Amino acid sequence: MTFRARHLLGVEQLAPDEITTLLDLAESYVALNRRTVKHGDALDGLTQINLFFENSTRTQSSFELAGKRLGADVMNMAVAQSSVKKGETLIDTALTLNAMQPDLLVVRHPNSGAVNLLAEKVNCAVINAGDGRHEHPTQALLDALTIRRAKGRLHRLTVAICGDIAHSRVARSNLILLGKMEARVRLVGPATLMPSGAAEWGCEIYEDMAEGLRDADVVMMLRLQKERMDGGFIPSEREYYHRWGLDAEKLALAKPDAIVMHPGPMNRGVEIDGTIADDINRSVIQDQVEMGVAVRMAAMDLLARNLRAERGKAAAGTYV
Ligand code: NCD
Repeated sequence: MTFRARHLLGVEQLAPDEITTLLDLAESYVALNRRTVKHGDALDGLTQINLFFENSTRTQSSFELAGKRLGADVMNMAVAQSSVKKGETLIDTALTLNAMQPDLLVVRHPNSGAVNLLAEKVNCAVINAGDGRHEHPTQALLDALTIRRAKGRLHRLTVAICGDIAHSRVARSNLILLGKMEARVRLVGPATLMPSGAAEWGCEIYEDMAEGLRDADVVMMLRLQKERMDGGFIPSEREYYHRWGLDAEKLALAKPDAIVMHPGPMNRGVEIDGTIADDINRSVIQDQVEMGVAVRMAAMDLLARNLRAERGKAAAGTYV
């Protein structure tokens, strides 16, 4: 097993063999999660704190279930009612929690880089559950597992990531991960929602959905991240749907067996037609949610192994 990371802050830090190790282990957790009794013991006795400075439904519940299924004591910090609202800094919050001896800290924060900063201040394993527009590593890993199960591989697939690329940590983490695994990535969306440096990222860029979706194996739609937009990036939602929303006509340009993905939460009739989202022959949106729990179990299992090994070495050192 190859997994060297101490924290999971981004996919940027992961080598292809580490990604494969994690996805392979996640497969075994998919099987466990389909059983009636879903208990593993990889996190027995460990304490996991979920610290979400941004709203989240699926990601937080997914991490909570993942920890509980593997035997961790899981606590959700309700940041909205916490001392953060009383003016405490991120670092003070981190130090306070650190003093409670957690082993795994799962953090979501609206600012890019905040989770990396926090990881420097604590002595447990930190998992980035999304920081600003920067990274969302477990989302890219669960997307990779979903694609690998549907298509049998990741390499030499054409993946079209469509919509609000500029504000999306999901797009960024997927682009990096899929590049490492030798998939061909296309970014498709309005010029106003394409990050300024995108041309140097080594992927194809399209404004026209018809060109961007042609012969794609995977169509990944993104949410319009209005909370990160100051001002008008699109003419209107109606116009956006007309040009960039995924409907049957546009999907017909992709390969006949192309799969449709969306990280959620989705806006039906804005990014995607509801009928396509619900079409079990094309949409793997529910599989993404299922894979999310398994991938988070695998990530926390691997980080806990490294944490135990590191602490074991440190303890041995004190007796020399
Ligand atoms: C994504 C996120 O929070 O970055 N959602 C998620 O984790 N499932 C995407 C989004 O909010 O649009």
